[in-house]
Amino acid sequence: MATQFTNPFRAGAGHPPPYLAGREQEKKEFSESLNQSPITTNLVLTGLRGVGKTVLLETLKPIAIEKKWLWAGTDLSEAATVSEDSIAVRILADLAPLLSGVVVGSTEVKRIGFLQPGGKTPVHLDFAVLKHVYDTTPGLTSDKLKAIFDLAWSCLKSTQCQGIVLAYDEAQNLSDQAAAQQYPLSLLLDVFQSIQKKGLPIMLVLTGLPTLFPKLVDARTFAERMFHVMTLGRLSEPETREAITKPVEKTNCPVKFNDVAVGQIIKHSGGYPYFVQFLCREMFDSYLQQQASGEAKPFVTVAQTVRKLDTDFFSGRWNKVTDRQRELLAVIAELPNCDEEFTVQEIVETSKKKLTKPFSSSHVNQILSKMADGGLVYKNRHGRYSFAVPLLGDFIRRIQSEAAPAAEVVKS
Ligand SMILES: Nc1ncnc2c1ncn2[C@@H]1O[C@H](COP(=O)(O)OP(=O)(O)OP(=O)(O)O)[C@@H](O)[C@H]1O
Ligand SMILES: [Mg+2]
Repeated sequence: MATQFTNPFRAGAGHPPPYLAGREQEKKEFSESLNQSPITTNLVLTGLRGVGKTVLLETLKPIAIEKKWLWAGTDLSEAATVSEDSIAVRILADLAPLLSGVVVGSTEVKRIGFLQPGGKTPVHLDFAVLKHVYDTTPGLTSDKLKAIFDLAWSCLKSTQCQGIVLAYDEAQNLSDQAAAQQYPLSLLLDVFQSIQKKGLPIMLVLTGLPTLFPKLVDARTFAERMFHVMTLGRLSEPETREAITKPVEKTNCPVKFNDVAVGQIIKHSGGYPYFVQFLCREMFDSYLQQQASGEAKPFVTVAQTVRKLDTDFFSGRWNKVTDRQRELLAVIAELPNCDEEFTVQEIVETSKKKLTKPFSSSHVNQILSKMADGGLVYKNRHGRYSFAVPLLGDFIRRIQSEAAPAAEVVKS
């Protein structure tokens, strides 16, 4: 009996897709960056929610390992990012597994006060030893951390290891906290600038939302020269097509997407990986469910599935915004450039045409900054805004057209 074919599509944060489409250029650039000696350029991998930053980061790891680099790093949870000490301890914890094979001495084993003949146990460079070195190094947190990197590299340089990549996901969580006199972000940048100047092959790869790079540059202006920014965008049409069709190409796959469906998925997903996975996963499941309930000719449309996307993905975000914020979002969704960047001025102008009670520019600024705190929009370095969630404009236009009778504020 043929084994049951499980749904291959994965719509989730950081879940590896069944087929990673595109991203060849990014992989190539990362691979080339490992040839630097000394390291002058680190990487920032940025893009909107769900564009595929986490899974790409995971894909870079084997490339580094292949080139004999060690790889360490994690998700930067907020707890690790609030103080200088917490980010330093995070780094020690990430380095420790790479170094725990290194023997830095031995201790004599004592038994009831007597030395056991020949009884010595090796001391490994584990977290406890690293922490001890960190604690006992005099000076500032940055001095302590530099001492750790010096120690780490002095132990590794005689091996085959070419260097270490420290990779941090969700790095937009890193923030200097002037009020608490804690500067974890500046610390990280200062330490890396200093160790790389000394020639240590330890490279930083930071992944995060589009707020990340401006944050780095705000903390230290030299960050602009220290990082190469790779911005992940939507997949091209052929790449999106591959992301949809490759996973179902296997002969025993019970579901196939016809050309119309593929075209519609490409259109409605806008080439954004999360939406591709979501639409394909849902359509795949609905088809099998209809088949299981005895439907002779199961029939699933992309339009039905887009509705589910609205409920599952967008509605939660939409329900959190106030009525006035919704009005403003509806105005933004009318801008032809709403999926790229927009200015306060453009919103004000359009609101004059569309609303009986238009927005003033100070009001727009105020609402946008509130929504930026909520993660719905973000401000770039040139003072322009963008939606932080892909295809939000399409969603807003969809619900606006459904809620048309209630929209008496909109002039005809
Ligand atoms: N190149 C790709 N081809 C096909 N599917 C992809 C690709 N990249 C990502 N995906 C899928 O898209 C979804 C989102 O990916 P991922 O979690 O890496 O995005 P992200 O940018 O890290 O999102 P967030 O900003 O929420 O952290 C996952 O389900 C993943 O499997
Ligand atoms: Mg992610």
